[in-house]
Amino acid sequence: MECAVVGTGYVGLVTGACLAELGHSVICVDRDSSKIEDLSKAHVPIYEAELENLVRANLKSGRLSFTTDIREAVRESLFVFITVDTPSDDSGGADLTHLDEVSREIARSIDSYRVVVNKSTVPVGTTRRVERLIKECMEEYHEFDVVSNPEFLREGTSVSDFMNPSRIVIGSDSQKAIMLMTELYREIDAPLLVTDPVSAEMIKYASNSFLATKVSYINAIANICEVVGADVREVALGMGYDPRIGFEFLKPGPGFGGSCFPKDCRALIKISKDHGYHFKLLEGVLDVNEEQHKRIVDKVVKAVGDLEGKRIGVLGLAFKANTDDVRESPAVKITRMMAERGAIIKAYDPKAMENATAELEGAGVSFASDAYEVAEGSSILVFLAGWDEFKWLDFSRIKKTMASPVVVDARNCLDPQVLRKLGFVYEGVGR
Ligand SMILES: NC(=O)c1ccc[n+]([C@@H]2O[C@H](COP(=O)([O-])OP(=O)(O)OC[C@H]3O[C@@H](n4cnc5c(N)ncnc54)[C@H](O)[C@@H]3O)[C@@H](O)[C@H]2O)c1
Repeated sequence: MECAVVGTGYVGLVTGACLAELGHSVICVDRDSSKIEDLSKAHVPIYEAELENLVRANLKSGRLSFTTDIREAVRESLFVFITVDTPSDDSGGADLTHLDEVSREIARSIDSYRVVVNKSTVPVGTTRRVERLIKECMEEYHEFDVVSNPEFLREGTSVSDFMNPSRIVIGSDSQKAIMLMTELYREIDAPLLVTDPVSAEMIKYASNSFLATKVSYINAIANICEVVGADVREVALGMGYDPRIGFEFLKPGPGFGGSCFPKDCRALIKISKDHGYHFKLLEGVLDVNEEQHKRIVDKVVKAVGDLEGKRIGVLGLAFKANTDDVRESPAVKITRMMAERGAIIKAYDPKAMENATAELEGAGVSFASDAYEVAEGSSILVFLAGWDEFKWLDFSRIKKTMASPVVVDARNCLDPQVLRKLGFVYEGVGR
């Protein structure tokens, strides 16, 4: 089946490459011409496991192509996916500027029946908004349907998440569009939930906000564990065996970040407010999250004293391991907070250096080419993203070059016993 995917970022590129892998014919569109040029040569601008191989193979097979010409892509496709960014606006709501632009451009390009599939995370009522915009901007009327098809992939494992999703949600009132969507995803073995567009839009926000709630909950529990002398990892294990709770997202750390959880919580608070409901629970989730970033800085202060002039080594800058994405990264926020308090910071991340360098420009942070260089002369090492490679560092070698052997492990990714045996002062979260 022929598909256009408009917006070739994390979600759009994965969607395009995976649909091509499923045998469909896909044209990915973006207004960023240098990105399209790179992708046409199989240069993938983001770090995402398996993605580059998938792009290369499907470019070669001819099932995947890239263009800046939305008109051409829409004309050649039955399905038009919208996968543009929907960042927070000043009020905390989702900024739909890009989605509106794309809807208008699709309207001007449609020349026969199309299924417009929205995968961007958007407020309740946006499917209807896109329908209205397309109708208003069409030069000549052609039949079309707009479907809500929220995306649940996680950065770091997005290809495998797309190919093996926990569920596929289709929000539509059109039998024709539902049948076509079912056919499009035929090769994917997952529960298919067909519902109305408003419920589909709500499912996405409710899911992300619930996961964010779990993270803030376990962080709050970790904070109490520290005071009462319990080990949060044992507590989470004991909780997780209950199938009503489960093990996922019960890992304490520096708070959640990324391009989705914070923005989607804010958007759901705004949607609720606009409809007369004060979502206090979710406000609390965001408050706990902000507080958690500060608590990590407090741990560093407790370990080394006043940060003014202290040499601090930061390991991990991405918003979590296995991605290069630093959008709303707790690691970046914590690094900036420490720099603002006068710390002299040297940092390293296995994949997010380029993005983090841009994000931290002007913050006075310097960057190293590996963890050992970060450790040299540092009074403390702060682990802010739990990359596997940090677990296997030679800590005896590191200890020899540090000014003082102190570690704050904000991801609980290291073994405290091993480190303490080597003579390190170790501080984790909730243990
Ligand atoms: N990143 C995730 O993990 C994830 C997961 C699920 C859902 N989502 C949602 O998916 C949407 C996209 O997220 P993302 O992380 O892929 O964003 P992104 O910023 O990585 O990519 C968006 C892309 O859209 C392009 N774009 C913007 N306006 C355009 C226009 N008018 N015409 C053509 N291209 C245009 C941008 O150039 C960019 O390449 C968001 O609504 C997000 O909330 C993201």
